[in-house]
Amino acid sequence: MRTPIIAGNWKLNKNRAEAQVLAQAIVAETQSVKDVEVVLCPVYTALETVATVIRNSNIKLGAQDMFWEASGAFTGEVSSDLLKDVGCQYVIIGHSERRQYFFETNETVNKKVKAALTAGLTPIVCVGETLPEREAGQVEAVVGNHVKNGLAGLSSEEIRKIVVAYEPVWAIGTGKTATPEQAQDVHQYIRKLLLELAGEEVGNSVRIQYGGSVKPDNVKELMAKPDIDGALVGGASLKPDSFVSLVKFNS
Ligand code: 13P
Repeated sequence: MRTPIIAGNWKLNKNRAEAQVLAQAIVAETQSVKDVEVVLCPVYTALETVATVIRNSNIKLGAQDMFWEASGAFTGEVSSDLLKDVGCQYVIIGHSERRQYFFETNETVNKKVKAALTAGLTPIVCVGETLPEREAGQVEAVVGNHVKNGLAGLSSEEIRKIVVAYEPVWAIGTGKTATPEQAQDVHQYIRKLLLELAGEEVGNSVRIQYGGSVKPDNVKELMAKPDIDGALVGGASLKPDSFVSLVKFNS
């Protein structure tokens, strides 16, 4: 019912030449994949390069962040329209690294999500708790805040258009994946919130990705869980072999 979505978040890696090589290898190896949506999210400076490589493929382009204003005196920022202009259909919003290092809050996430939707971009809205928060029994409180405040004021039809990514901070880049059961528990909670916010039909249609040390050897058991609809992948998206085997988790 929900098309799986596997997205590579390349973070601050790959110059244009490297991005071109990686994207070309992924295009070549995923041509036969029709039942999984694939998104590549390179750095801003490589967006156009990757857009050119994926032009005649099923692969889609995403950015890693954006600002909520359309234009003006905002040195260093990039707007939704500029991302569309370079070929993006997706944009990651509120990644934990942005929350941690760049002071992103639920309020800024909410403004960015609204601006992305207005421009016709699909926001991949990231939520997730830190290890101390998990150990203090605050997973639902933290994730609930991220979801409710990040999506505040959105209509059901707007919520229909988003993707949520559950990324427990303690699992990102640590090699320590959440167990499929741990992930499913939180995904199920997020699903419940989406059902409350947007009603049954929309709440059941929104895809929820898991992110945090997703690797070829754990993707299948994660994807087998009922509310895990995809993966947002860091490290394993930087090599064609590992990313392609994630995309082909089903075969
Ligand atoms: P890793 O796959 O490297 O743990 O990163 C996950 C992530 O942050 C994707 O956005």
